Amino acid sequence: MKSMTMLKSRMPARLDLLQSLSGLLLVLFMWLHMFFVASILLGAQAFDRVASMMEGALFFEQAYPGLVSLVAIGVFALFVLHAFLAMRKFPASYRQYRVFHGHMKRMGHEDTTLWFVQVVTGFAMFFLGSVHLYIMMTRPDTIGAYGSSNRVLSEWMWPLYLLLLLAVELHGSIGLYRLTVKWGWFSGHNAVESRRNLKRAKWVITVFFLALGLASLAAFIKIGMTQSDHYGQPVLPSAYSTMPVRSVGGLS
Ligand code: HEM
Repeated sequence: MKSMTMLKSRMPARLDLLQSLSGLLLVLFMWLHMFFVASILLGAQAFDRVASMMEGALFFEQAYPGLVSLVAIGVFALFVLHAFLAMRKFPASYRQYRVFHGHMKRMGHEDTTLWFVQVVTGFAMFFLGSVHLYIMMTRPDTIGAYGSSNRVLSEWMWPLYLLLLLAVELHGSIGLYRLTVKWGWFSGHNAVESRRNLKRAKWVITVFFLALGLASLAAFIKIGMTQSDHYGQPVLPSAYSTMPVRSVGGLS
């Protein structure tokens, strides 16, 4: 009976640790993801090469889009686990939310506001992130300079990506900042000073990845616009000279 009580009392701490760990893994994944996607800034060929690498072209003679599906399934599982654990801390009712909001306004405490921003962006990502991940799981063969630009512009994914980008860059860096404060990483000798530095680093990270993401999105839109006459057609080298003819599922 006693050990059962001890087990129960340790449970919240374990769930907290799992939430931190899953959040950290997702942040690290997102940083890699943003750099991979930003390869579009180096040109269509660079992006296609990165896409092929992700499909295992480095290790096998042929590219296997199914490998990207497997990674997307893993990321989705982590995403769901993280969201499920985070839900414990959401205000459970409208009344609770009103009380919290009142406190937040009265206190004007920045860390409390950051927590609230994290709840709102996390809630938005539930929907926005799931749409994107479902497409990555089911149509990895369409990832490529043309296929992705087509999706972003002609298939109207850009508004969703814009909102998702804002949400993920705010959520991820606030999450990382809160992790460092919670587990006392980089706490230094002067707690006030190190908190100020961590907050500054948080903003630098947000602005950097937002700028990178916006520039990548603009590059996809530009390619999509260049290609708009050829919507639904395979890309011809003459239509977009730097673009290789990468076999795109359903379009080739
Ligand atoms: C293994 C999982 C994932 C894969 C393979 C993947 C792949 C991609 C690809 C190829 C693009 C370029 C556009 C396109 O082809 O549609 C893209 C864009 C994007 N992805 Fe992902 N993604 C994954 C997970 C995620 C997650 C978990 C998030 C955030 C919750 C996310 C957020 C975004 C955003 C915001 C963009 C817009 C591009 C930008 O502005 O730079 N992705 N992703």
